[in-house]
Amino acid sequence: MSAIHLLRKLSRRPPSRLHRNLLSSTFSMDLPPDLARTTLIRPFSNRPTIFNNTHRLIPSCFRQLNLLPNWVSEKKKSISVSLREFSTSVVETNTSDKAFERVVGLNPNPLVIERIHNGEETIGESVSGGEIIGNKIEKSDETLVREESEAEKEAWRILEDAVVRYCGSPVGTVAANDPGDKLPLNYDQVFIRDFVPSALAFLLKGEGEIVRNFLLHTLQLQSWEKTVDCYSPGQGLMPASFKVRTVTLDENTTEEVLDPDFGESAIGRVAPVDSGLWWIILLRAYGKLTGDFSLQERIDVQTGVKLIMNLCLADGFDMFPTLLVTDGSCMIDRRMGIHGHPLEIQSLFYSALRCSREMLSVNDSSNNLVRAINNRLSALSFHIREYYWVDIRKINEIYRYKTEEYSTDATNKFNIYPEQIPPWLMDWIPEQGGYLLGNLQPAHMDFRFFTLGNFWSVVSSLSTPKQNEAILNLIEAKWDDIIGNMPLKICYPALEYDDWRIITGSDPKNTPWSYHNSGSWPTLLWQFTLACMKMGRPELAEKALALAEKRLMADRWPEYYDTRSGKFIGKQSRLYQTWTVAGFLTSKLLLANPEMASKLFWEEDYELLDICVCGLSKSGRKKCSRVAAKTQILVR
Ligand code: GLC
Repeated sequence: MSAIHLLRKLSRRPPSRLHRNLLSSTFSMDLPPDLARTTLIRPFSNRPTIFNNTHRLIPSCFRQLNLLPNWVSEKKKSISVSLREFSTSVVETNTSDKAFERVVGLNPNPLVIERIHNGEETIGESVSGGEIIGNKIEKSDETLVREESEAEKEAWRILEDAVVRYCGSPVGTVAANDPGDKLPLNYDQVFIRDFVPSALAFLLKGEGEIVRNFLLHTLQLQSWEKTVDCYSPGQGLMPASFKVRTVTLDENTTEEVLDPDFGESAIGRVAPVDSGLWWIILLRAYGKLTGDFSLQERIDVQTGVKLIMNLCLADGFDMFPTLLVTDGSCMIDRRMGIHGHPLEIQSLFYSALRCSREMLSVNDSSNNLVRAINNRLSALSFHIREYYWVDIRKINEIYRYKTEEYSTDATNKFNIYPEQIPPWLMDWIPEQGGYLLGNLQPAHMDFRFFTLGNFWSVVSSLSTPKQNEAILNLIEAKWDDIIGNMPLKICYPALEYDDWRIITGSDPKNTPWSYHNSGSWPTLLWQFTLACMKMGRPELAEKALALAEKRLMADRWPEYYDTRSGKFIGKQSRLYQTWTVAGFLTSKLLLANPEMASKLFWEEDYELLDICVCGLSKSGRKKCSRVAAKTQILVR
């Protein structure tokens, strides 16, 4: 069979059975016959199982993304707009009104952010239109010009050079573009998680195309059949990364294909659990920042969201509402003792649930899923707020815990032995402030401070308003440990000696105070900035950003820094790392545009706090654990 035949055959591959069932059960009532023919029920042939190494490549002839006629989104618009209004929290009502106006085209003066060129290079940024741009412009026809620093100008050049094109269109950014790197491994790929800060930088600059393309192309990869040693992971799985490859069809013809990595080539075969969660978060951000909600209303996009949610909400053996994952399933994608219920995954899961609740069209076929989402949101926030929270008072409580309690209303529910409290923590925990634990399992608390999980809990309101404040208080009190010479430590403290040997498996890349083992990652600046802005403390983010700005350009935008205080460029750190560059730019843009930043975080949702489905609260022999909980979690 010639390559061209192979590609033709591949292009007719069917979506999986699950995908097909979901599509038809969800939309059977409003699909016109022609739509069903073009998008859903193509004349598929059998799976090309014999082409094991090539069948996962996506031929460009399959990249037809705009398959849905306009009337579909028009028809759904009125329903989904009202649903979006309904599902946003009380505090967000004003923002949502504006969103509504944008969708139905009532805003005569949209917000425009443009970059100003002086012929050769960009010298500044102009913001015009809108109602209030940050707190600097009060009248809608004024224009603010902010001059870009040298570092920003260079950062934009690097970011633009990192753009990956597929059939001529921008679809993402490579992880790193280090000209001196002779062995880029997979750093020449587009990583889903790495692209998020790039996407936000582009969106905040007013460029939506690359983000839209990214969302639609990765969506196509989601439904692709994937196998790791003959085992197929769940259908909703999003790849960790993808690469654009050129394949030769015959002597004169080549064709570009997208080649995803679902973990089957990744070091350690880690599962990219966070990819789908980030994809959903980015989809919402795209709508919020561009006002183009038609993307999230598309049938194929709605199905993508449902597949991810179904995968996350599938029944298993779990006893907790937290998501159970293997080690290395997020930004820390190597063995680091974060298997089980790591905080980073829980906070991303929580925001993905909130985004889905906001974006999913409610109809007969999605009712059950939406109900499951609401229940999980409520149970998850209770569990994290109640059991993951530590401050000086809670540590003292754990220090005096009784163990081996057998009852439903035990104080020490997880049977934590007080000897587990690490000696460093007793000295380290400040009087003011607290944080969420890194992980919680039976008889196991991981007391390390994990930065991304804590910041994203603030951003998504997984933690209570008081806990959010306390997390920032802790950062302030422990500035030298978490920020030091370069923001921000990925976690604190490092695993040393036997802990390093046993928990990392003697990983030479993750030696103490390096890389994932308490290295400092400048990309985390954008999440920190968002958390600080949400809590009305932008000056903290500005201070950290100024530190980074002093060094990043001179150091050639490293991936991470090493040592306790983040003084040295990481020993195996890539240079010109795209998410370092993009995290820096996104932080700058967020600080300059608070109105835009506010669209990216969530306020407390009081509706969720009232949901309790356990049915035990009324009376009876057993008590609802939420009611029985000693801690006051509903902090208003
Ligand atoms: C490293 C990081 C991972 C990142 C990848 C590409 O593996 O641990 O989070 O996505 O590099 O930058």
